[in-house]
Amino acid sequence: MKLKYRIGMFLALATVVALGARLVAGPDNDKPMTEKVAKPAKETFKPVLTVEETMEGQANLMKSIKSGILDGAWDEASIRATVLAELSNTNQYHNDAKDYKTWAQGLSKDCLELARALKKRDEKESKALITRANEKCSACHDVYKKKW
Ligand code: HEC
Repeated sequence: MKLKYRIGMFLALATVVALGARLVAGPDNDKPMTEKVAKPAKETFKPVLTVEETMEGQANLMKSIKSGILDGAWDEASIRATVLAELSNTNQYHNDAKDYKTWAQGLSKDCLELARALKKRDEKESKALITRANEKCSACHDVYKKKW
């Protein structure tokens, strides 16, 4: 009898502790954190350059990448190709048209590949990639460059 009494007391106490813990924890505390944190407002990227400035930069970088190959300044040319990749990446925000964005993104991708080829001092691959990149310049200009 004594043991039964003890077990009964123990269970009663455990129940009180468990209910107390639930009260302290508050209701429904097991939802994932992500559901409770408010989503931040969507920010749109704003280029600091005008389209003209972007294009002058792109033309200048392309020119110096080509002369870098001729001068054997491979590492400098490779860095310029990465900068051109980012510049073209920003260019996509100058126009909402899908084809404009696709050409700007395509040029950016070509320039990243070009940067790697230049780093490897691979002249043949670098020249092929410059040709591919230039095709993107022309394709976009044919549609979007009004004055020549
Ligand atoms: C996704 C579209 C797009 C791509 C890709 C593009 N351009 Fe342009 N480019 C334009 C537009 C639009 C203009 C016309 C800007 C204006 O005058 O309003 C322009 C104009 C130019 C101009 C004349 C700038 C001036 O001062 O009027 C040059 C130079 C130029 N681009 C070079 C390049 C070179 C070099 C590449 C490739 C490495 C290139 N562009 C790739 C859209 C593009």
